[in-house]
Amino acid sequence: MLTLGLDVGTQGTKGLILDGETGSVVAQASHAYDLLSDLPPGSAEQAPDTWIEAAQSVIASLLADPAVKGNTIVAVGVSGQQHGAVLLDEEGFPLRPAKLWCDTSTAAEAKELSERFGRPVPVGYTASKILWTLRNEPQIWERTHSVMLPHDYLNYRLTGSLFTEAGDASGTGYFNSQTRDYHQEEMALIDPDLPRRVPPLRNSEDDAITLSDGGSQLFGLPQGTLVSLGGGDNMMSAIGSGATASGTVVVSLGTSGTVFTYSDQPVIDPEGLIAPFCDSTGGWLPLLCVMNATGVTEEVVSTFPGETLASLTSQAEEVAPGCEGLTWLPYLVGERVPDLPHAHGVLLGVGEGALQPGRLFRAALEGTSLNLAWGIDRMRDLGVKIDGVRLVGGGSKNPLWASILADAIGVPVSRLAEAESAALGAALQALWTARRSTGDNPRLHDLASPLIEMRDEPIEPDPERV
Ligand code: XUL
Repeated sequence: MLTLGLDVGTQGTKGLILDGETGSVVAQASHAYDLLSDLPPGSAEQAPDTWIEAAQSVIASLLADPAVKGNTIVAVGVSGQQHGAVLLDEEGFPLRPAKLWCDTSTAAEAKELSERFGRPVPVGYTASKILWTLRNEPQIWERTHSVMLPHDYLNYRLTGSLFTEAGDASGTGYFNSQTRDYHQEEMALIDPDLPRRVPPLRNSEDDAITLSDGGSQLFGLPQGTLVSLGGGDNMMSAIGSGATASGTVVVSLGTSGTVFTYSDQPVIDPEGLIAPFCDSTGGWLPLLCVMNATGVTEEVVSTFPGETLASLTSQAEEVAPGCEGLTWLPYLVGERVPDLPHAHGVLLGVGEGALQPGRLFRAALEGTSLNLAWGIDRMRDLGVKIDGVRLVGGGSKNPLWASILADAIGVPVSRLAEAESAALGAALQALWTARRSTGDNPRLHDLASPLIEMRDEPIEPDPERV
């Protein structure tokens, strides 16, 4: 039984095919894209159809893979970057590019909503993007029929139906994580008309959905292919890394850095630094998100022509921990945790040789790790027990980063065999949906967790360096 998982990320869309019998990933493909250029400071936008074209290209590559060719894909699952505001008109066409999770241009609106709601509304969430549109582009808001999230939009183009689910919806900023439903009063405080413009919620007990004729033509998959509910990338990554039962804490190093764990009840941080998300399996997913992770290491790579992540890593291995006093506060694109949307990065302690590529690269690894450690302390303060973490995301392929992270947080770090845990989680959820459609009813955790493998032995923290 083959299933397909797609992860629509900030820098590209990744996809994989999972063999549900053996648990192995039999094919992988990806398609990169950029953010739109020449936008005002703080704006981070993408055209939703960029994701559709990328998904088409990824699916075509996967279907052409010799390990897949000629075999039936029974179900598809979609993971997507959280929080982006996809505004659709009555016919279902995007009215403007989507403002993304990393857009800080609506910081003033986020602050204003925090006052109206009487609780923190972080800048990246969808809510402030709506208030911004209403004020700055009233003609667009006037024509907005549906406010969708990136993974909702992919699901819409696959199935022809407008719907969402609690995991991703809990990142909108107008969702009540405790009741797992929209917060009607808060929506009305943004715009009295908003409740009519959000998609209905579906949950896993509802009947399975299938690919529409249009979806079948668009993506080259047969009609009748099942489409699972999907979810935000962190919710899908939780499924693909085993954080679907208490006790597993995951750190993800992608464009964003996140730390999350499963909880069987909502975890509310009064300061709003730890997000009170729902997961996509019926539980909750307290989560910390920093906006600066692989973007910082990529920045160093692009500064030194001829260098690669691998060459910079070997040079950084020769640099002593602490970088001879060089410290990089890595806030290249502002930051959500700590709450500094308009911040820029700072290099402190620049002495002779500080700007050598290896030293700067190590400072990037240390700065990002220490920023995450700062947030992890906040999670510990809220009662999350952290004895060890699982590491996923593109950055997890770098063993030096994993070891610096182990020292920064003082616990062993286990890297997962499949770094693309969000795409894997989407394929696992699709497998679960396919199994349910045959009358079987396994718990998602019981189905998925035996299929999740470690890449190598845990990387232990060095007591001298912690
Ligand atoms: C989570 C967040 C990011 C995006 C990245 O709150 O904003 O992790 O989901 O795709």
